[in-house]
Amino acid sequence: MTLELLLLISTAVIAVIIFFAFRSNGNGGGKAYKLPPGRMGLPLIGQTIAFMQPHSSASLGDFVDQSMARYGKIFRMNLLGKPTIVSTDPDFNRLILQSEGRLFENSCPTSIAEIMGRWSMLALVGDIHRELRSIAVNFMSNVKLRTYFLGDIERQAVKILDSWTENATFSAQEAAKKFAFGLMVKHLMSMDESMPETEQLRREYHAFMKGMASIPLNLPGTAYRKALQSRATILKIMGQKLDERITKIREKCEGLEEDDLLASVSTHPTLTREQILDLILSMLFAGHETSSGAIALAIYFLQACPKAVRQLREEHAEIAKLKKERGETALNWDDYKKMEFTHAVINETLRLGNIVHFLHRKAIKDVQYKGYDIPCGWEVVPIISAAHLDPSIYDEPQSYNPWRWKAILATVTKNSNVMSFSGGPRLCPGAELAKLEMAVFLHHLVLKYDWELAERDFPVSFPFLGFPKGLPIKVKRLGGNQVAQDHYGDRCSS
Ligand code: HEM
Ligand SMILES: *[C@@H]1O[C@H](CO)[C@@H](O)[C@H](O)[C@H]1NC(C)=O
Ligand SMILES: *[C@@H]1O[C@H](CO)[C@@H](O)[C@H](O)[C@H]1NC(C)=O
Repeated sequence: MTLELLLLISTAVIAVIIFFAFRSNGNGGGKAYKLPPGRMGLPLIGQTIAFMQPHSSASLGDFVDQSMARYGKIFRMNLLGKPTIVSTDPDFNRLILQSEGRLFENSCPTSIAEIMGRWSMLALVGDIHRELRSIAVNFMSNVKLRTYFLGDIERQAVKILDSWTENATFSAQEAAKKFAFGLMVKHLMSMDESMPETEQLRREYHAFMKGMASIPLNLPGTAYRKALQSRATILKIMGQKLDERITKIREKCEGLEEDDLLASVSTHPTLTREQILDLILSMLFAGHETSSGAIALAIYFLQACPKAVRQLREEHAEIAKLKKERGETALNWDDYKKMEFTHAVINETLRLGNIVHFLHRKAIKDVQYKGYDIPCGWEVVPIISAAHLDPSIYDEPQSYNPWRWKAILATVTKNSNVMSFSGGPRLCPGAELAKLEMAVFLHHLVLKYDWELAERDFPVSFPFLGFPKGLPIKVKRLGGNQVAQDHYGDRCSS
């Protein structure tokens, strides 16, 4: 099929979608609304493409910047064929997230729901969402993080880091993905690298992810069609794991104390097989795409900030020294809590790196805000990264400055301008796990290596976070107590 034909078909498909979207949403049944300013007119797909245009993840992108300059922080547009209110207003965004189920609710685009599954938590609202969410929350509770995740995170991190070769160029993004993927499949389904299904799952997952970020056209040869096929294969692999587990439980075999997600859902009284598989797939997606991105971002930002690497190294060398004196080896929860500067580095990395830029919601009532009407039924897109890049909230928002968090901690008790993990009733249940993964990985990284970029690269929002070249780095092993000499310019603040 030629490209032109494909484009023609996609234009036609989108035009039809837009037609129906307009018909169903109408213009509010004749009521006089004072809508936020913006452009709704043709060319409609043009706006969606402009909005979705890849841009540096430390920015909001040209389209949003220009719209803000023209219309202000709240504006309207056509996105994915639907009339949409976009907000870069941190106060409004907080209201949107906090009033989930009352004024606004989650509104996952159909194409994403089709790939993730209709029972994916990312696509659900109401009671069923609450029920599935409580399983996720329980899976990653603080007790589980302490007793069950911490040791594994450390083992996986050490294993990955030990496999790095000095002076060779390799993709830090791939390494981070391998780490986070290995951790998730182990805790979801007790799968490990020695099993052939694990490698197959990794391959399929790769194709699946490509489709997530593509134009949703279910035609032969498209990335979207391939992703749907990969989804089927992934569900088959997961289904086999589920069957094995159910058989084991029936036969009352040994080894049932396995504390993975499968164990807790396979005996769940009300969940269907379809729901269980969608839950595990969306946990695999939500739990490794993001945390691996966070680790890659830390590697990227720190590489340009030797002063922060030095301070991190001091913090972690001290922890390691005390452990050695006490004859301990593995990191424990107290060690983690002591990593004060590391937490500032994590906060700063998530602030400037912006793994998730925006969310999808819709108004379920007519809502008034700052003199504007948001009509019931309209899509609402809170751009959560806007608060992180707002110069009235963060001084020199473009500079990577972990030290700023000390001042923030001293002056504000609860920082409501951190939205990396969303907020309100849908706040990311994996936030603590992700931070723990980052901290433990950084502990071993800074004690083992010095690193530099082998090629220029930077984080891009596609809108999924990625490094165009995969973040190629080279590492130098640190010997004993040797303190590495810095050989990069200091581009960060203090
Ligand atoms: C730095 C890493 C991470 C970031 C930035 C992140 C961010 C987010 C965001 C923005 C949401 C959307 C919530 C909404 O719609 O309002 C979310 C939801 C979710 N995240 Fe994370 N996340 C991260 C790591 C993780 C990890 C490690 C897991 C573990 C499995 C996880 C599991 C989930 C789940 C299950 C949801 C759906 C929650 C719901 O719908 O109630 N995330 N995350
Ligand atoms: C890596 O490169 C450095 C300097 O170029 C050299 O001193 C070192 O021996 C090399 N290491 C290995 C393992 O090749
Ligand atoms: C990092 O941000 C979180 C969320 O706002 C905050 O609770 C925490 O105190 C911050 N940590 C540091 C070290 O700044």
